[in-house]
Amino acid sequence: MVKERTFIMIKPDGVQRGFIGNILNRFEQKGIKIVAMKMVKVPRDLAEKHYGIHRGKPFFEPTVEYIISSPVVAMVLEGENVINIARMMMGKTNPSEAAPGTIRGDFGQFIGRNIVHGSDGADTASFEINLWFTKEEIAEYSRIDEEWLIE
Ligand code: RTP
Ligand code: MG
Repeated sequence: MVKERTFIMIKPDGVQRGFIGNILNRFEQKGIKIVAMKMVKVPRDLAEKHYGIHRGKPFFEPTVEYIISSPVVAMVLEGENVINIARMMMGKTNPSEAAPGTIRGDFGQFIGRNIVHGSDGADTASFEINLWFTKEEIAEYSRIDEEWLIE
């Protein structure tokens, strides 16, 4: 199996609306391993670095304000093809277009309040994991269900 890691963040609206448990539960039910997790009051410079690729776009400033407005839950997930699987589980960027059954499709209505972030590719994932976590904060371990989960 080709092991991948991705960076996921439950955004301020997800925390404020009480969806931390539900979102974690979805990843756990899917059999995805959480290898790092913390609550963060995001400093402005971290939010600006995280969304640096969008600097100059009209939604950059409002998105930074949104991310620093209240704590977020940051995590690293690990597994085969986990970058794409997590993006599928999140649904389309705009919750009004996201399919029911996805996190954004089930919980959101507006693009500027879309509950969750997930890395969009391998390069982004390693950039974001290094930005948000130190090496020591990431746990390398086996789960007892792996024998039944992984073909
Ligand atoms: P994310 O990075 O947060 O996981 O979202 P994404 O890949 O699905 O979408 P992306 O294009 O990277 O957009 C980053 C975040 O900026 C906000 N946004 N607002 N008002 C707008 O038109 C607009 N477009 C994007 C959203 O919070 C989006 O998740
Ligand atoms: Mg993105």
